[in-house]
Amino acid sequence: MAQEKDAAIASAHPLATAAGHEMLKRGGNAFDAAVAVAAVLAVVEPYASGLGGGGLWLLHRAADGHEVMVDARETAPAGVKREMYVDGSGKPVRGATTQGGTAAAIPGAPAALVHVSGNYGALSLAETLAPAIHHARHGFPVDERYARLAELRERYLQAHPEAAHIFLDERRAPRPGWRLRQAELAATLERLGKEGNRGFYAGDVAESLVAAVNRAGGVWQLSDLTGYRVVERAPLRFQYREAIITTVTLPSAGGIALAQCLQMLERFETVDPRSPRDAHLVVEALRRAFRDRAAYLGDADFSAVPVERLASRAYATQRAATIDPAAATRSEAPEREPAAAGSANTTHLSVVDAAGNRVAATLTINLLFGSGVVARGTGVLLNNEMDDFTVHADVPNSFRLRGGEANAIAPGKRPLSSMTPTFVEDSRGVLVVGAPGGSRIVSQVLLAVLDYIHAPAVDLAAIVLAPRYHHQWWPDRVEVEPDGFPAQWRAALEAKGHRVETGKRRWGNMQAVFKSKQTGLAQAASDPRGADVGSF
Ligand code: DON
Repeated sequence: MAQEKDAAIASAHPLATAAGHEMLKRGGNAFDAAVAVAAVLAVVEPYASGLGGGGLWLLHRAADGHEVMVDARETAPAGVKREMYVDGSGKPVRGATTQGGTAAAIPGAPAALVHVSGNYGALSLAETLAPAIHHARHGFPVDERYARLAELRERYLQAHPEAAHIFLDERRAPRPGWRLRQAELAATLERLGKEGNRGFYAGDVAESLVAAVNRAGGVWQLSDLTGYRVVERAPLRFQYREAIITTVTLPSAGGIALAQCLQMLERFETVDPRSPRDAHLVVEALRRAFRDRAAYLGDADFSAVPVERLASRAYATQRAATIDPAAATRSEAPEREPAAAGSANTTHLSVVDAAGNRVAATLTINLLFGSGVVARGTGVLLNNEMDDFTVHADVPNSFRLRGGEANAIAPGKRPLSSMTPTFVEDSRGVLVVGAPGGSRIVSQVLLAVLDYIHAPAVDLAAIVLAPRYHHQWWPDRVEVEPDGFPAQWRAALEAKGHRVETGKRRWGNMQAVFKSKQTGLAQAASDPRGADVGSF
């Protein structure tokens, strides 16, 4: 457990966390720290996030209580057509949303760094990007996790020569300790620091990105990049018992699901998410929230989505009334062979500073090593976020998520996300939390919030360590982490009619900080799963 101080940072990599602390030491605030952390993560976890990806940032400014979601989600390029992803009979075009140029959406990550730094930071962007530039240019010894994930994706990387050249050691997955050097990425970061958005979204970098994507089968135009904008949106805010929860809205489905689940669960007496009795209620709430996600959610800038109603207490009450405390409801969905669960990655950072400024940011290039496309001369590995769209009602994505017209592919549109950076505030203090894990982000954050609120004392390490279960309406099963739950627990759920399945490995890499209102002291906890090479 980290020492308690007046500020705390939790991230998936010690070099990133150190960069954040360095900014605080120099007089930067939580926003500067978060920018530095995010930029270093882009260098040291290239399989998870990066300049070629996107993310959702939740900010709280202590001076005036201003809270905002910075939506840096990727957008579909203007030239995109549904036929690129699905044929006339509704059959998906193999790999189109996950690999190569058609998989990559226009990155939002660089614009988020510029935006958060410029509008909320106290230091210059060049200063906050300096640690990332240093690690990219001089290299850093890769850890076991990197080695394991590169090994897992060795063939994938070999199929993409630019990526293989950077991320593999003589075309093979490196051993831990191998030095990953990314001189071109360092130069791109440097340009971003000096020129702001123009350093990435225009000029040589932009031209190289367009050329690389189109060589790999994509349809990007320079105007897709010059036209990219982050969007500031009002976060979703609601009350659960005594706590105020602040979380993300569309284009993430995560915050809406969190609001739905917690408000449904509030209709029941105590909720101990670890007891089989209440795990049943949590699963039933998730089932309902994920059903609504599939039915209604997508980029609200493109079609009307009744977010207010879906996230309302009245609707939750109505939905909770359909939960039978004694028996599982059935999820009815058209059966079709589900896609194999994708090997996935993403990253989360949580920061709170001495003044009480907070940042929760979840950042991603989607699946491990994204689309595999690296633009020559830039060091930028592009995302495969197009897979978060629904290509056809019958075709689930890599997280086995289904969806409808609201999340159909369209030019300029943002794909629906599960990322759920969240603040929980009660009389004890403030919890800042989030995690990677695709659709399982939602259940992780839900369990973390419930664990926090229902435990008599705050035990951050226990919150990030606690075993996880998940339900997403379809497939209709409760997925549990291996070794997480005793046979009796499972039997109790099965007795209520649930299908309980053990996942192959544990999931998530939760990053949480807590700042006490009583003492002003802050602590950080990183999920030990992050160091566990068997989970991703
Ligand atoms: O935005 C989303 O929901 C996904 N692109 C996130 C992917 C992810 O979390 C993979 N992590 N394990």
